[in-house]
Amino acid sequence: MAVLDILHHPDPRLRNVAFPVEAVDDEVRQLADDLLETMYSARGIGLAAVQVGIARRVIVVDVSRERNAPLALVNPRVAAVHGEEAEFEEGCLSVPGVYETVSRPERIRIEAWDRDGNAVSMDAEGTLAACLQHEIDHLDGRLFVDYLSRLKQQRIRKRALKQQREALA
Ligand code: NI
Repeated sequence: MAVLDILHHPDPRLRNVAFPVEAVDDEVRQLADDLLETMYSARGIGLAAVQVGIARRVIVVDVSRERNAPLALVNPRVAAVHGEEAEFEEGCLSVPGVYETVSRPERIRIEAWDRDGNAVSMDAEGTLAACLQHEIDHLDGRLFVDYLSRLKQQRIRKRALKQQREALA
């Protein structure tokens, strides 16, 4: 396994729409394992392949407090949404230091393949539902900051560019 470099907003590669995985092979399993190691190393609760510059539809999440419930999903999609919208404070390993409230459907059904290539269908609510929707958004080149007001988006972008300039200096 390997810890991969995470791209930071506004890197244009975060806007790539990821390609579907045609079959779960060793390469895809390796990618899933690397994403998990990278996510745990960065203390995140979710990570998408797009965030490490790989435009394939693979995500990992672990919303457990004990950090012992890894979930890797290939070609995940939201198959159904239920209930009201729920608000969660979200952050993102690609937008460090920014935490903002985002409203999303509170209960969803996800369809995907698991790490072994088996078709899985799962119902999610609460933090897990928000996290899964956030990660699936990454596969479509979408970031949680896109849901914020234009003014907030401009501030976040400006601050990110400033931080990157300072890091290079
Ligand atoms: Ni994210």
